Amino acid sequence: MIPSAIVLTREAPLAIRSLFAEKKYSKIGVLVDENTESLCYPLIKVEIPEHHMIKIASGEEHKNLTTCNEIWHEMTRLGFDRKSLLINLGGGVIGDMGGFCAATFKRGINFINIPTTLLAQVDASIGGKLGIDFEGYKNHIGLFHDPDLVIIDPVFLDTLDVRELKSGYAEIIKHCLIADAEYLDTVVREPFEDQDWGKHIAHSLQVKSRVTLEDPLESGLRKILNFGHTIGHAVESFFLNTPNKLLHGEAIAIGMICESFLSMKKTHLPAQEMQKISNLLKSIYGKHSIDTSNYLSISQLTLQDKKNTDGQVHAALLTKIGNCTYDIPIDTNDIKNALDFYNSI
Ligand SMILES: NC(=O)c1ccc[n+]([C@@H]2O[C@H](COP(=O)([O-])OP(=O)(O)OC[C@H]3O[C@@H](n4cnc5c(N)ncnc54)[C@H](O)[C@@H]3O)[C@@H](O)[C@H]2O)c1
Ligand SMILES: [Zn+2]
Repeated sequence: MIPSAIVLTREAPLAIRSLFAEKKYSKIGVLVDENTESLCYPLIKVEIPEHHMIKIASGEEHKNLTTCNEIWHEMTRLGFDRKSLLINLGGGVIGDMGGFCAATFKRGINFINIPTTLLAQVDASIGGKLGIDFEGYKNHIGLFHDPDLVIIDPVFLDTLDVRELKSGYAEIIKHCLIADAEYLDTVVREPFEDQDWGKHIAHSLQVKSRVTLEDPLESGLRKILNFGHTIGHAVESFFLNTPNKLLHGEAIAIGMICESFLSMKKTHLPAQEMQKISNLLKSIYGKHSIDTSNYLSISQLTLQDKKNTDGQVHAALLTKIGNCTYDIPIDTNDIKNALDFYNSI
């Protein structure tokens, strides 16, 4: 069951019109970056009553306090109060950061998210995680807080480039790996160009909402959504400040290969399933060599993972395709072996 505050539609303008037919706000702001301003905003602007644009620069490197200052500054300058609304129109960066700014502005104002990338539609749109990066650590500062409404329309994906589309595809695959082996077969049967994104978005929303409703604050089951993310986030953070920046899904694909290898070692994932996962992900994402001299830095970055307790790194690992367990301790040596495996594929 998908929560009622999430609307999956092929008619985003209609959903926006019915929202404003019902609700009145003192001020409305639309948070965009240069891409969503030119490509997504024109599709919906006529449905939004008198509003102000708040524009920030696109990219993960701007998901930080400096940009939050700009957003808070604009909301203050425009005279936003507790009855105002912020519409976050963009990918996961806009959703996470705009939500964070709205949820903290004057102790919280209304906000709705209109995710416009596949990654944001299948993952960032649900579960209420908001936040920003800090001192090189991903999503280091933030909170749990649900948007008042999320409107998801695959039409926005028409302008997304293939690399970004593939980044979101990694989370669709992750949802299958942790919860639905049968659906994985449906997904991989079709070549990438022929995928039915609307159908996959609905599937991902179902998996993610089932898990997050059961454990909203990530004290247990929700940790399975982090499969591939313990090493994946560390790899993403590591490459963030290099010329070989990886997209979130690309880093998570590396993380899923590494953590499938660890699943085979620690939680009895059958070797042929591990091989199937690694072949599938390599066929979609290719391979990015990771120099052994960087292993230690990547390992150290996993120490910042939010699932850790008392300095012990914990991962969510597969017991088989379609089933995932969590809180499995892993150490530096495991990470090194997993990265060695990745380099060997
Ligand atoms: N809150 C959560 O649960 C959650 C889950 C997963 C990821 N995230 C976060 O999401 C972020 C990544 O999100 P992302 O992959 O959407 O990246 P992003 O927000 O940086 O968007 C990627 C690029 O696509 C552009 N873009 C957006 N919509 C477009 C469209 N329709 N057409 C053309 N270009 C478009 C953006 O301007 C940007 O340049 C990360 O910061 C990650 O931490 C959050
Ligand atoms: Zn992710």
